[in-house]
Amino acid sequence: MNPYSAVELIRAKRDGHTLPDAAIAWLIRAYTDGQVADEQMSAMAMAIFFRGLDDTELASWTAAMIDTGERMSYTGLRRPTVDKHSTGGVGDKITLPLAPLVAACGAAVPQLSGRALGHTGGTLDKLESIKGWRASLTGAEILAQLKDVGAVVCAAGAGLAPADQKLYALRDVTGTVESIPLIASSIMSKKIAEGADGLVLDVKFGSGAFMQGLDEARELARRMVALGQAAGVQAVALLTDMNTPLGLTVGNALEVREAIEVLAGGGPADVVELTLALAGEMVQLAGLDTDPAKVLASGRAMDVWRRMISAQGGDLDAALPKARHTDEWTAAASGIITCLDAMAIGVASWRLGAGRARKEDTVQAGAGIELLARPGDRVRAGQPLLRLHTNTPEAFAAAREALSVAVTIGDRAPATRPLVVDRIG
Ligand code: URA
Repeated sequence: MNPYSAVELIRAKRDGHTLPDAAIAWLIRAYTDGQVADEQMSAMAMAIFFRGLDDTELASWTAAMIDTGERMSYTGLRRPTVDKHSTGGVGDKITLPLAPLVAACGAAVPQLSGRALGHTGGTLDKLESIKGWRASLTGAEILAQLKDVGAVVCAAGAGLAPADQKLYALRDVTGTVESIPLIASSIMSKKIAEGADGLVLDVKFGSGAFMQGLDEARELARRMVALGQAAGVQAVALLTDMNTPLGLTVGNALEVREAIEVLAGGGPADVVELTLALAGEMVQLAGLDTDPAKVLASGRAMDVWRRMISAQGGDLDAALPKARHTDEWTAAASGIITCLDAMAIGVASWRLGAGRARKEDTVQAGAGIELLARPGDRVRAGQPLLRLHTNTPEAFAAAREALSVAVTIGDRAPATRPLVVDRIG
């Protein structure tokens, strides 16, 4: 006999009551096993959307999701393990230079990543634009690569928090994705199951982010850091601005090229700044006394990148794919760029073929957008501001429609905004 009734628990949450730990553990397990129906879990997700979960409920909810799957273990590694998670943004290629940089500083970086969905890109899609590179590794391969190279970026296996996979798919079709406790438990169940000793969260706010408002992003960061710490993972979050795309490229191969520029000691200032800010936090959590800026300048991070890519079959000598067609978006007026909207540029890049609308869709490695100017730049009417890349030129019209709200040109330079706005932890 069931110890709890799903209907009673839904009613309790709907009416604003606190759910007991044991009831939450039962509900998550029973849902994963198929004893609690999708429609009941949908109702519960909606009740949580409106009523929330307090800190104790959230910790129980997250622990119950972790308990539905396996936990990775890195025993036998001589280096401290530290991981990074970004809540997702446009042009966010930071994992690519960051993982080898932090490994070159002396930590082991197991970076289990995802694919693009919607307007934000996915790290695995970016790396798959490198000929031969393989995203799927076994647990033994991950461990061996962490020992030999210090960094691995690969697909998260289906065995980590399977409850989240089922629940996330349900939230996606029931209007319940945008709930801070459900997002926090979804992200942290996977990250805690990944088993690193330390975790740095890059929580983004702004037009191209999951959380548009700074206050909501801060609340998400606070709850994720508390969950990590309660589970014995040292966690810190940086709140970072995602109103403008990061760097000068959006799209898979375009972003890999830019990440390699950063590893070679160049690259756009904002990408370098965020890479070093996150690396600084990761190195500190790992207890290492190393300056990531010096390590980046020494070229050692580039050496780790090369070994990391080759270890997964990537051909470092093969040229990165290029799209067959390009088009330009030009300035409608003369003046100073006051806004380059991350969401509009993300959507346009996705429509050009860099992202996917459904999980089954394939992505074009060469598709995307290059930014030829940044906010604060003075431009003249007719000057090219964005270069669009695609293999499917019929996509230009839809991309251009998304771009119609992307660029604002004014008379005065916009106020300079910090990229890293706050730190929680
Ligand atoms: N990413 C996740 O993994 N889960 C969410 O709920 C939102 C973003």
